[in-house]
Amino acid sequence: MLAVLAPMVCEAGADETRGDPRRGLELSVSCASCHEGDGRSLGYRLYPRIAGQHYQYLVNALTEFRRLERHQAYAFQMWDPTLHLTDQDVRDLAAYYAKLPW
Ligand code: HEC
Repeated sequence: MLAVLAPMVCEAGADETRGDPRRGLELSVSCASCHEGDGRSLGYRLYPRIAGQHYQYLVNALTEFRRLERHQAYAFQMWDPTLHLTDQDVRDLAAYYAKLPW
């Protein structure tokens, strides 16, 4: 039974490797106007720092924005940049930002 379950567990644990950070870099051009090129958002405090966040945190956040599930005061600003993203885009962006220094 363990032998059957092991590949599933590994697959779930290896989620991070399914994102391509190089492609995430290309996609991140559309995020830079608010989160800045390095994702640290130092210029204007309205925009949260996303560089160095955990991969799964980024995937979850982007997925929630895409589904219009987040409604904090400024969440609407994230709807337009994320509505068109595919699941793979989300993984690539998360892989890219997760690798940047905090
Ligand atoms: C028009 C400005 C704008 C653009 C463009 C933008 N964001 Fe955001 N982003 C925001 C704002 C404002 C928030 C905070 C929203 C909130 O409080 O719910 C945010 C929040 C986030 C968060 C959640 C951070 C946290 O700690 O909860 C992530 C992740 C994120 N953005 C990633 C991205 C990515 C990736 C892109 C490009 C695809 C992008 N953003 C494009 C303005 C923007």
